[in-house]
Amino acid sequence: MSKADIIVGLQWGDEGKGKIVDHMASKNDYVCRFSGGHNAGHTIVVGDKKYALHLVPSGVLSKETKNIIGNGVVLSPKDFIEEMAQFDDLDGRLFISDKAHLLLSYHAMIDQASEKLKGKGAIGTTGKGIGPAYVDKIARVGHRLGELQDCHKLAKKVIAHLEQNRDLLGVLGVPIPSEDELIAELESYKEVLSPFITDTTLMIWDALANDKKVLLEGAQGTMLDIDHGTYPYVTSSTTISAGACSGVGLNPKDIGKVTGIAKAYCTRVGNGPFPSEDFTQEGELIRERGQEYGTTTGRPRRCGWFDAVALKHAVRVNGVDEIALMKLDVLDGFKEIKVCVAYEVDGKVIDYVPYLLEDAKPVYKTFQGWGKSSGIRTFDNLPQSAKEYILELESLVGAKIRIVSTSPQREDTIIR
Ligand code: GDP
Ligand code: IMO
Ligand code: MG
Repeated sequence: MSKADIIVGLQWGDEGKGKIVDHMASKNDYVCRFSGGHNAGHTIVVGDKKYALHLVPSGVLSKETKNIIGNGVVLSPKDFIEEMAQFDDLDGRLFISDKAHLLLSYHAMIDQASEKLKGKGAIGTTGKGIGPAYVDKIARVGHRLGELQDCHKLAKKVIAHLEQNRDLLGVLGVPIPSEDELIAELESYKEVLSPFITDTTLMIWDALANDKKVLLEGAQGTMLDIDHGTYPYVTSSTTISAGACSGVGLNPKDIGKVTGIAKAYCTRVGNGPFPSEDFTQEGELIRERGQEYGTTTGRPRRCGWFDAVALKHAVRVNGVDEIALMKLDVLDGFKEIKVCVAYEVDGKVIDYVPYLLEDAKPVYKTFQGWGKSSGIRTFDNLPQSAKEYILELESLVGAKIRIVSTSPQREDTIIR
């Protein structure tokens, strides 16, 4: 009986999970997404080709690896079918849980309209409908992929639900489709997706029982977790390792190693607290050098320094065994590099994430920069001050940094 390993983001998403999942995919029989939806944007670069994956798991480029979309995911058939079209080899190696929830166009419309109504208080969502889809799931009025089997019945249930909310939808400007329109739309999804829909939990149990290797691919990041992130500026799912179990149907004893992904600095898209954000030219330099623009929405990402306090929180809450430190090369050439080592809240210095991160001011330690790490593939060949930076981060956050990434390319990855 083997155990499943987990990859999770330790910051505010976009840490480089896609690169590491792809890097590990060929050594795994299965790669499974367990939460979120097409709010995720996981980039994989192979040679001069760049893939942006939103729902398709990042094991897809590894031809022998099977890919599963677990029950914890909210899936937009329309967007998923578009994404599938870039691959012609998905038959027999892509599976979708019949318990994953459907995200339909009205979810996205509600998301966008309610963000608009919030004005300055908006969360800054991706506008993809993730929150409203999870709202329906938790309110027990959502619909699952398995229901596509009977599109007439499903359409009736969806319309009845929309009718019950007619007044609210009217305020938000969300139209209710006709039953015939909706049936036609759902039938078109069924035609493409039904060969892929199955009980993926049984598949994963079977895989582990047969000593297969299973990798559970997280989306978003710990600080966007519905419970342990910067609520309410979070996503609507459990993004941490605990969510991997319920998101595919495993129990904690099934889990082997947890690898946490973190950038050598910090970014965030959307609103909400970010104590180590840098509003100066240095923050802009990180954005330009790191190409910090959203994979899903194209929005510029807010940039700043590595937050060791938030990272230590993430290590503990996820049970991180090892860290992959990404984008070290983006800091190449900086004379000095700052790391947030504590917060000041009401004149008191603390080393944990407080109830409201909004109130925290960063306490920085400054490190000496280095020349060039870009493309370096062994730890020994890194500049001395880059090595010192990595070792110091390790001791600040309390977990081993076993992987260091020095470019978007698969091969530019140091394993210590
Ligand atoms: P994810 O959502 O966690 O998968 O991360 P994204 O794909 O949204 O963002 C990470 C970005 O950084 C992508 O454009 C990657 O190609 C890129 N990237 C990953 N690792 C490295 C690295 O070590 N160096 C540089 N310069 N870019 C990297
Ligand atoms: P990956 O998997 C970065 C952010 C949004 C917003 C908040 C809520 O690529 O790391 P939502 O649309 O989920 O309701 O938005 O969460 N967000 C992400 N930020 N990376 C992501 O995914 C994200 N998915 C959601 O910007 O602040
Ligand atoms: Mg991303």
